[in-house]
Amino acid sequence: TTLKPIPSPPSYPLIGHAGTGVVDPANSQQSFRLLREKYGPIYTLNFFGRRIVLVSSQKLVNELCDESRFHKRVEGSILDMVRNGAGDGLFTAYHGEENWGIAHRILMPAFGPSQILAMFSPMLDLNSQLLLKWERFGPDAAFDPAEDFTRLAFDTVALCAMSYRFNSFYHESMPPFIGAMGRFLVESGLRMQRPSVVQSWMTHTNTQYEADIKLMTDVCDQIVSYRKAHPTEGKKDLLSLMLEGKDPKTGRGLTDTNIRNQLITFLIAGHETTSGLLSFTLYHLLSNPAAYAALQREVDTVLGKEAITVQHLPKLEYATAVLRESIRLNPPAGAISVAPTKETEIIGGEYELHQDWNCIIHIDTLHRDPAVWGEDAEEFRPERMLGGRFEQLPPNSWKPFGNGARACIGRPLAWQESLMMLATLFQRFDIRFDDPSYHLKIKQTLTTKPKGFKIHAIPRAGAR
Ligand code: HEM
Repeated sequence: TTLKPIPSPPSYPLIGHAGTGVVDPANSQQSFRLLREKYGPIYTLNFFGRRIVLVSSQKLVNELCDESRFHKRVEGSILDMVRNGAGDGLFTAYHGEENWGIAHRILMPAFGPSQILAMFSPMLDLNSQLLLKWERFGPDAAFDPAEDFTRLAFDTVALCAMSYRFNSFYHESMPPFIGAMGRFLVESGLRMQRPSVVQSWMTHTNTQYEADIKLMTDVCDQIVSYRKAHPTEGKKDLLSLMLEGKDPKTGRGLTDTNIRNQLITFLIAGHETTSGLLSFTLYHLLSNPAAYAALQREVDTVLGKEAITVQHLPKLEYATAVLRESIRLNPPAGAISVAPTKETEIIGGEYELHQDWNCIIHIDTLHRDPAVWGEDAEEFRPERMLGGRFEQLPPNSWKPFGNGARACIGRPLAWQESLMMLATLFQRFDIRFDDPSYHLKIKQTLTTKPKGFKIHAIPRAGAR
């Protein structure tokens, strides 16, 4: 085979592409879309000698998803910095790290189908808190839905996985954990781009970073001591599995430090993403009146005025398609990193990748690959996910939850929660833009959310 050089924008010696404006750190998503347009489905960038390769066609990504050739890479990616807070928790564990295997085998059973169905009632508890709040606001209030979706998702992980109540809906300000986590993630990202000398001089920033980590750690220690003081008799949730579970393979349990890392991980991984999904979904529905009307018709047919039950969920086919299409266009976790298992690996028959490079599956642009999604890839069209079409998509063309063994463990939890929320919102309210001329803007930490997006929720006449 003849190898081809991987396309790359012009760069400088030493600094490479750092500070050249090729990537806007505040809106890298937009930069990566432009680079994809200009350089195609594979291109490479270099920051002070650290090389990243971004891949975004289904054809090439399909190779990177082959776990016999590639595996998740934490080293040299932002996740290595997130380890400062989440340690060897599932999300930030290194490939092959022993504690990942132990925790994965102990915790997987907590996300099986019957466990997720058992979460229906705690989910409904929090779902009702949001509905009641929006109803009490009344039709004149303009508000940012992402805030209450964050309360919902954060409280849901804590209640479903740890039987713990943050009661976020009963507080004016967001739980302190969320602020600390946001600052921690942003700073972790910035640290990736700073030389270590500069970092050591930034004493104020470093003190805040340490304080934020301590706050998150303290919250998780409090959850564990609450559990020890209030044992859940016979009820097996995620936390009881962490405290008592034994790995079927090695017979070992989780250490106290690892449990703390897992709790931080679940609280971090579990709420920004779900909140982003629900917020983007409302935006797309408001921007596409035909899809909005189709969803409302389905909700009126399937739910009518009944209280939602688990039996309704599989019948919500259009709502499912809406969520799939929304997460295609705006995957809240827009990129994941992999590395070849061998020293080098050739993809597409012509591009050589090295083990010490950060190879990024760029989900955000993968989800707009015209070869899979056609010329209208940029349009929100839930119909492309209906009638068996989702099941027939080419392999690894829709990857919002990551890949293989390291894919999202919380996917079924997030999905059930989102489906319930979307259906009950449409049952109870007409949703309207506050500013009908609003166009999507993005707020970015480790994940993405709409920025400055405000709505009105108008109770529907005769709704439950
Ligand atoms: C992993 C997305 C909700 C817990 C991941 C990964 C993605 C992802 C892309 C792979 C990361 C990588 O390869 O580096 C999402 C999205 C969600 C969501 C889009 C919501 C719509 C949740 C929830 C939880 C959760 C609700 C917890 C209950 C985790 C954990 C991992 C993970 C623990 C690491 C799994 C491992 O490596 O063993 N998620 N996630 N996620 N997610 Fe989620």
